[in-house]
Amino acid sequence: MKKTLANCDPSVLAGRRVIVRSDLNVPMDGARVADDQRIVASLPTIRMLVDAGARVLVLSHLGRPKGEVDPGLSLAPVAERLGAVLGREVRFGPDPLGRGVAEPISGEVVLLENTRFELGETRNDTELARSWADLGDLFVNDAFGTAHRAHASTVGIASAMRSKGGDAVSGLLMARELRYLGDALREPDRPFVAILGGAKISGKIDVISALSSRVDRLLVGGAMANTFFRALGLDTGASLVEEDRIEMARELLEVVGDTLLLPTDCIVAESLEAGSRSRVVHRSQVEDADHIVDVGPETVTAFDEVIGRARTVVWNGPMGVFEVPDFSRGTEGVAHSVADACDGGALVVVGGGDSAAAAHLAGVSDRLSHISSGGGASLALLAGQELPGVESLSDGA
Ligand code: 3PG
Repeated sequence: MKKTLANCDPSVLAGRRVIVRSDLNVPMDGARVADDQRIVASLPTIRMLVDAGARVLVLSHLGRPKGEVDPGLSLAPVAERLGAVLGREVRFGPDPLGRGVAEPISGEVVLLENTRFELGETRNDTELARSWADLGDLFVNDAFGTAHRAHASTVGIASAMRSKGGDAVSGLLMARELRYLGDALREPDRPFVAILGGAKISGKIDVISALSSRVDRLLVGGAMANTFFRALGLDTGASLVEEDRIEMARELLEVVGDTLLLPTDCIVAESLEAGSRSRVVHRSQVEDADHIVDVGPETVTAFDEVIGRARTVVWNGPMGVFEVPDFSRGTEGVAHSVADACDGGALVVVGGGDSAAAAHLAGVSDRLSHISSGGGASLALLAGQELPGVESLSDGA
């Protein structure tokens, strides 16, 4: 059991220097925040600290600048947006280590520049971690989306804080993510159904293997189903297939057996572009020039029936090229099925990234138990892996 901010008495936070590691790695459109979902998700922790009168210093990475200063990946616009959604000014500190930046006063929030402008960040450099830990008396790791990385501002800083007698605790978002993705799925109400989609099986092999022995049904769509089709000896035309994973898919099919449900029909198109001509075909009728772009209506119905009986559902990855409206029906179908299941009392957890965007597009975000703020981190948890960002926190209630 790790210590969490949720169990902290707010009165002990007044006047304390608290370092919060958030995951504010948001999609940008030039210098504009294109999607602020992660910023909004980080608010409960920051607000709790501000209300308690803590002096709040926030750290985050943005993109992958590889230890070099890249003005295009500055967190300055993120500080502005954070201030707007928080409803109070967030001061931006243009140095990742806070050099030359005045310390926050009680109730103030300062966001420092991109942690990844420092070369030692992704190497989990001890000295760098110590410099960050020296900026506060308590470390709160709320960056669930980065919890699968052992970096200086997530893992090293926690050890450095503990070494100097301070605590390293999980933030409110981190605790919520762990509750839904960790605890709730450990002893799920059954039937337990997992839906996996997206382009590649290579990134999800561990998840498929780990989930297949725990779930009652595993529904697979998206381009990753194509690799399974090939393993079954079916033609996939011009569709995306991981040729080097076909053998692995064949082995997985043997292990997973009847638990796995693959699409029986698909939408095929001349190309992945919007407006390209498309038709519904059985999965055995894909022709040489066809691109599989979505699951077909028969599959949507079959998946809906399975999801409708589930008591616990986890969904990660779209069923097709959902960004193109003509090819989004399969993904939308799953989004509505899981929302209906949730309305009926099932616990529904959606993995981050594309499936979160798909739930949003389908207008069902508010009808789900939990939408994770982490892509890679949520997959790692589902695969049963430990998260370094969590393991490094202080033990205790
Ligand atoms: C994410 O977007 O998944 C997290 O912020 C981690 O980013 P990274 O994959 O660049 O480490």
